[in-house]
Amino acid sequence: MARLHNFSAGPAALPEEVLRQAQEELLDWRGSGCSVMEMSHRGKEFMAILAEAEADLRALMGIPAQYKVLFLQGGATQQFAQIPLNLLAGRSADYIVTGSWSEKAFKEAQKIAPSLAQGSSVRLAATTKASHYTRLPVAEEIKLDPFAAYLHVCTNETIHGVEIPAERIADTGVPLVADMSSHILSRPVNVEKFGLIYAGAQKNIGPSGLTLVIIHQDLLGMAPLCAPTLLDYAVQAENGSMLNTPPTFGIYMAGLVFQWLQKEGGLAGIEAVNREKAALIYAAIDDSQGFYTNPVDPDCRSRMNIPFVLARPELDAEFLAEAKTAGLLGLKGHKSVGGMRASIYNAVPLFSVRVLADFMNDFARRKG
Ligand SMILES: Cc1ncc(COP(=O)(O)O)c(C=O)c1O
Repeated sequence: MARLHNFSAGPAALPEEVLRQAQEELLDWRGSGCSVMEMSHRGKEFMAILAEAEADLRALMGIPAQYKVLFLQGGATQQFAQIPLNLLAGRSADYIVTGSWSEKAFKEAQKIAPSLAQGSSVRLAATTKASHYTRLPVAEEIKLDPFAAYLHVCTNETIHGVEIPAERIADTGVPLVADMSSHILSRPVNVEKFGLIYAGAQKNIGPSGLTLVIIHQDLLGMAPLCAPTLLDYAVQAENGSMLNTPPTFGIYMAGLVFQWLQKEGGLAGIEAVNREKAALIYAAIDDSQGFYTNPVDPDCRSRMNIPFVLARPELDAEFLAEAKTAGLLGLKGHKSVGGMRASIYNAVPLFSVRVLADFMNDFARRKG
């Protein structure tokens, strides 16, 4: 059976080349006599896999030496708690809420702040909830605390399809903490603008079960003494993400994805393809004379996750059924916003996106 066109929001498409390499190496990893899944995480083979994955990621993203790269578990959701646990330390932190994911991060921080050192609190620096998360806040709406322990943002809202363009990431004088789960590695990024970057792997990095944290060394060592050891970034950094058994197969797969990205021309190379892919889908929406609409302000439309609704929702089921017959998977929108969503991560080939755009154009012509 052929592989279909996968527009799932995550876990999502992986590069076919990577899956084939993993398949080839599955039973016997390069003469080791066993699978990566079966080898000790402290053995020299796996240590080499981990070191290479980290070096390749550092090269791809241009991660300076003063940042630690951690390969953790618990998903991005665990980071919603782990970040305040490590960084609040009796202070206040600011959150900018631009969609469901940053809202969840804010609520989780609100939940745990009272159990941290006295004076720990979180503030809502701006929210676009009243605009149904279809835009970014303008400068006048953002009320920043110059003494905040950190400022948290989600640079790509997977459900609402709102992405913060790199040029809108300003230095506010406090460490910037960013949830990049759904667009990490999709475009070049200036890591030095951030204090901490985190991402669940299952969109642009590899399989679920691996969580990436890139943290400036100045932010290490602030966790309270009562913090669980496993959740202390400083301890994880000291132990090279090997405090306990790391998600070994996920790290191996991520390493293969990093190598694949290098062959695609690195982040600048993949960004060019991502621009082209996103332009095809937005054109199918915008040129449909209202048959499809995407509500997001054009200056912050995501290149990775494109939600859209049909003017006649009674056609939704038909759209999805026909899409499935055409080999197009994962297009149903998130239940909180309805309609459709095309997630076009790095590993979704340009060809698949062309097939989707043609399908959308044809469906609109026939039903419009
Ligand atoms: C932007 C963003 N943040 C956080 C999460 C939660 O990730 P996880 O399932 O790895 O906890 C997701 C998952 O879709 C996401 O898209």
